[in-house]
Amino acid sequence: MIYPIVAYGDPVLRKVGTTITKDYPGLDDLIKNMFETMYESNGVGLAAPQIGKSINLFIIDTTAFEDEKYPDFKKVFINAEILNETGELWEFEEGCLSIPKIRENVNRHPQITIKYQDENFVWHEEVYDGIAARVIQHEYDHVKGKLFIDHISELKKRLLKNKLLRIAKGEVNVDYRMRFPVLR
Ligand code: NI
Repeated sequence: MIYPIVAYGDPVLRKVGTTITKDYPGLDDLIKNMFETMYESNGVGLAAPQIGKSINLFIIDTTAFEDEKYPDFKKVFINAEILNETGELWEFEEGCLSIPKIRENVNRHPQITIKYQDENFVWHEEVYDGIAARVIQHEYDHVKGKLFIDHISELKKRLLKNKLLRIAKGEVNVDYRMRFPVLR
């Protein structure tokens, strides 16, 4: 099943996702459907708030990047907590399925240590760097109620204001299904 992607402006994107347990209703189907939804919209990551669920769950599949270091990076992250971020900030252009047609350079640390549970609720603590870390940081932001545009300068944000408002109103052409917060 493919979910509509929640667009910028919906308050669910600003909530901190709650911790979940094994008993979370329909979790297996939810994860399966999130992957389907992500592939349908050509995304490399998708967080639960983006389909309207305020829980600490996100999925990633960066195999399309053909990153030598993480060739088969496809994972489910549940109850994730980034423990530390290290290294000199580096710039990379980010986009987001919830904020279509906007791409901006974002500075983030290159290396992270993250603790999370997989789909079987087994705990892991792992170190990532480069693109893999970047995608994790972006999705992790989502489950903490943050968006990539929070990392850009006030000036750039002001320049984007009207574009963002149009997205919230649904005045944007996208080739995947979206759910818009403000009715025209
Ligand atoms: Ni995003």
